[in-house]
Amino acid sequence: MGNGKVRVGLVGCGVMGKSLATQLRTIDQAELIAACDAVEDAAKAFAEEFGVWVTTNLDELLGREDIDAVLIATPAYLHAEQTVAAAKAGKHVFCEKPMALTVEDCDRMIEACRENNINLMIGQVLRYFPIHAKIKELIDSGELGQLLCLTIHRLGGGFTGVWAKDWRKSKALSGGMLMEVNIHELDYLRWVGGEVESVFAMGENFLHQECDYPDCVFVVLKFRNGALGMLHASQVSAAGSYGGRADCEKGSLLFPQLWSGELVVQTESERKIFKAEELSTENPVRRELREFIESILEQRPPAITGEDGRAAVALALAIYNSIETGRQSRVGCDLRRTENFGQQLSGQ
Ligand SMILES: NC(=O)c1ccc[n+]([C@@H]2O[C@H](COP(=O)([O-])OP(=O)(O)OC[C@H]3O[C@@H](n4cnc5c(N)ncnc54)[C@H](O)[C@@H]3O)[C@@H](O)[C@H]2O)c1
Repeated sequence: MGNGKVRVGLVGCGVMGKSLATQLRTIDQAELIAACDAVEDAAKAFAEEFGVWVTTNLDELLGREDIDAVLIATPAYLHAEQTVAAAKAGKHVFCEKPMALTVEDCDRMIEACRENNINLMIGQVLRYFPIHAKIKELIDSGELGQLLCLTIHRLGGGFTGVWAKDWRKSKALSGGMLMEVNIHELDYLRWVGGEVESVFAMGENFLHQECDYPDCVFVVLKFRNGALGMLHASQVSAAGSYGGRADCEKGSLLFPQLWSGELVVQTESERKIFKAEELSTENPVRRELREFIESILEQRPPAITGEDGRAAVALALAIYNSIETGRQSRVGCDLRRTENFGQQLSGQ
């Protein structure tokens, strides 16, 4: 650590890398000092914009002794190799979602970080959006009683503009829509509702034949605590939408606009409304990076661990398994029982 600051290197200078770098620069306890991108023009453009040393060679970045931590913002198929390399070089790792594309790769990442005694945080940033966080707080408080059902829909119109990258069209490189986009909602459903026992899903590719994965998926989830969940994930909606609701024993939570709207809490006796901007104004990406940096300085695990990232990946894979087999699929997110991952329920 230099002058009580965590000195950071960025890996992947694309859209998310720049967003991370922009937010990191507003955090006093952190200093962005280097970046790496395999594409020379991207690295050079980043150097000009952010005024830091750049390289196209990851080993060169990881070899710098004045770097304490890295932010990995490359396509998902690279996350495992780059995290393991960073861990071996003794750098703390913040890795963008999805953590990786297989449970085995997640395990390799967790193991390498554990062996080298470094922090691993996964960028499941939705947990830091104000309405998302308030829903979690209210359900955990128990004031509405047991959660019964939780539904979320996230609908978009496809990968256009800055999101139109070739790697996003390939399930082998991105994990497909369920991992590249909806790993956010899968992590969120599990964070709020608890571990998922099994899923049943259907999916179709309606509009994006250039992509080798479903662009519209309906998922029903059974939580271990008995509650039910539902996700409608889509990239075929011209109108787009993002929201949902939660019904608990003693009241309902209505959140028709999850990013920035209002959260309505309805019980028999009262109706309360929380507005996103009154809950928090800190940029959620800044908030997640602050957590990563503080966890390093305070020598404690970060709030969103490799095990969390792994559980979301296992959930996505179980959903793909259900779509492919037409059957209900168990979720192997219990770290002690990896062998049942994605397995079909017996006798079906
Ligand atoms: N948290 C969020 O809300 C959010 C939003 C967007 C993207 N992401 C995640 O961030 C990651 C990157 O997405 P993006 O939109 O920035 O992609 P992008 O294509 O804009 O950027 C990726 C960058 O990585 C570089 N790269 C490719 N291979 C590399 C290698 N071997 N070494 C170093 N650099 C390499 C590319 O040249 C490119 O500049 C993905 O995991 C994505 O899911 C997260």
